[in-house]
Amino acid sequence: MKEKVAKKFAEIFGEGAQMFASPGRINLIGEHTDYNGGFVFPGAVDKGIVAAIRPNGTDKVRAYAFDLGEQAEFGLREEDKPAQSWACYIFGVVREMQKRGVAVEGFDTVFSGDVPLGAGMSSSAALESTYAFALNELYGGGAIDKFELARVGQATEHNYCGVNCGIMDQFASVFGKKGHLMRLDCRSMEFEYFPFDPEGYKLVLLDSRVKHELVGSPYNDRRASCERVSAVLGQEFLRGATMEQLDAVKDRISDEDYRRARYVIGEERRVLDVCEALERGDYETVGKRMYETHWGMSKDYEVSCEELDFLATVAEECGVTGSRIMGGGFGGCTINLVKDSLYDSFIAEAKKRFNEKYGHEPMVYDVVISDGSRRI
Ligand code: GLA
Repeated sequence: MKEKVAKKFAEIFGEGAQMFASPGRINLIGEHTDYNGGFVFPGAVDKGIVAAIRPNGTDKVRAYAFDLGEQAEFGLREEDKPAQSWACYIFGVVREMQKRGVAVEGFDTVFSGDVPLGAGMSSSAALESTYAFALNELYGGGAIDKFELARVGQATEHNYCGVNCGIMDQFASVFGKKGHLMRLDCRSMEFEYFPFDPEGYKLVLLDSRVKHELVGSPYNDRRASCERVSAVLGQEFLRGATMEQLDAVKDRISDEDYRRARYVIGEERRVLDVCEALERGDYETVGKRMYETHWGMSKDYEVSCEELDFLATVAEECGVTGSRIMGGGFGGCTINLVKDSLYDSFIAEAKKRFNEKYGHEPMVYDVVISDGSRRI
């Protein structure tokens, strides 16, 4: 990808670009917990965004999206927001860096990516992190720390893209480390690297290639449910609340909000269980919790869909250790913890049965845990 992007940059804008990259992410467990102040357990992957970038001495950004074959040009002020949604990510990062005192000037850039879109692997966080990292290097003397770079990406989503996301995706993209998952406490922002190389098992993603655009903004609605319940409980976050506390306020909240909160409180426990289980090499428990997360996300949080429920069911029927929908939901992929000996038969069976039912095969991505944002 690097060569391809560098070549395109030279073709359009000339020589002298600097190159940067940031990855997408997986998440072993801990879904919709980040904005609830809870734990997440992501890792960066070997798929991401690569960008070539060079200051152009003007007050304009000229950006070329290689994969779309589209170019955008926009200024650096708040009123200069571009029309193309992909360009809003770059624009948002520019604005958020400026808000943090970085004197960003005009630049030319080309980018390309291989994070599958709509798969729940955070292609947008990869894009944000790439530019946050690059602008920090080019205009900020590298002075902004990595957590703040992750917050730049998150604030871009909030302020320029309309998604009230948590910090997980941008954190994972910036901090990723080869061979390691990261357990992040989204309340204290403390985190630990966990070496992850389960002997005898593989992590594999099955991408349903469906993206259900639900009416309105379901992600933000889920977050709002959690905030309503926290307010009734008199807490800043759902993190730390118990099922007993939730049951005690059951008649003061809607049934829907009750189920949303029930999922989140259960998920907090599951992440901690998984960490403990990993420390003793107990992958059976890891897998069980993954299935529990899947059905919690499907029945209580209602962010799954028929196709992903089908994939998780096929996994269970094939004897796969753990399987669940990954990421924000409403389509995308399942993450599967599979014994080496089952891998081939499971993939073949899942492809066949999914194809029979939905008319296309899921895409298969083996998970390779890789490094975070960097200059290349
Ligand atoms: C999306 C958001 C994250 C997180 C996940 C669900 O990926 O960007 O902040 O909330 O959904 O875990």
